[in-house]
Amino acid sequence: MDKPVYKRILLKLSGEVLLGKSAFGIDTDVLKFVAEEIGDVRTLGVQIGVVIGGGNIFRGVEASARGIDRASADYMGMLATVMNSLALQNALENRGIPTRVQSAIEMKEIAEPFIKRRAARHLEKGRVVIFACGTGSPYFTTDTAASLRAMEMQADAILKATKVDGVYDKDPVKEKDARMFSKISYTEVLTRNLKVMDSTAVSMCRDNNLPLVVFNLEKTGNIRGVVCGEPIGTIVGGEK
Ligand code: GTP
Repeated sequence: MDKPVYKRILLKLSGEVLLGKSAFGIDTDVLKFVAEEIGDVRTLGVQIGVVIGGGNIFRGVEASARGIDRASADYMGMLATVMNSLALQNALENRGIPTRVQSAIEMKEIAEPFIKRRAARHLEKGRVVIFACGTGSPYFTTDTAASLRAMEMQADAILKATKVDGVYDKDPVKEKDARMFSKISYTEVLTRNLKVMDSTAVSMCRDNNLPLVVFNLEKTGNIRGVVCGEPIGTIVGGEK
């Protein structure tokens, strides 16, 4: 049987991942796929926290560029993450996987408030905990929320799911000769300004020595593979 190298993970999903083939909102086929992949990893006994972005519904940064006050736009983006979190919760529970949604902004009728110790207990009990509303503060991305929650939950690693295979020296979608790193240091990511996560999220991981694996979510079995230490994607760590 596959043996996990990480016992507790924080999975970061971008809102765009949930778009799938839709132009807007949530593609339910993608949702089902993600729920199956998470369920599969859970059978290994791995504890799973999830942070989801909201870009499939609302992009705070773009809206602020078009004249909406940045803080308001960010709060709207946080609300979008709540929709995605509830959708994922539903897809997981349809598969019999116990979940809890905890929100950084209190909205008790919809989700539990974020309480660190309670979230940790949920994880210990095998529940998938979905952290909604990012950090709860404007000007921070959901990548930073993922770093923060990973640290608070003392996760062994952050798994950042993307649409490409890992971290490249240039944009692999635009440049044919882009080269993928199998391993890279946080400092190099920052100095080369590689668009892995925003710099706040990357520096938080670096300062706390938290491994980050960037990988392609669209390939079946990739989350399991990463969790079991297979050479998938790019590992960002302390040393090169
Ligand atoms: P244990 O104490 O480990 O059994 O955890 P639990 O989450 O099952 O305990 P609890 O009885 O507090 O929660 C039961 C259900 O109510 C769960 O589905 C929780 O997610 C939900 N729940 C708890 N607190 C809140 C809240 O403040 N708001 C909302 N919307 N749901 C809540």
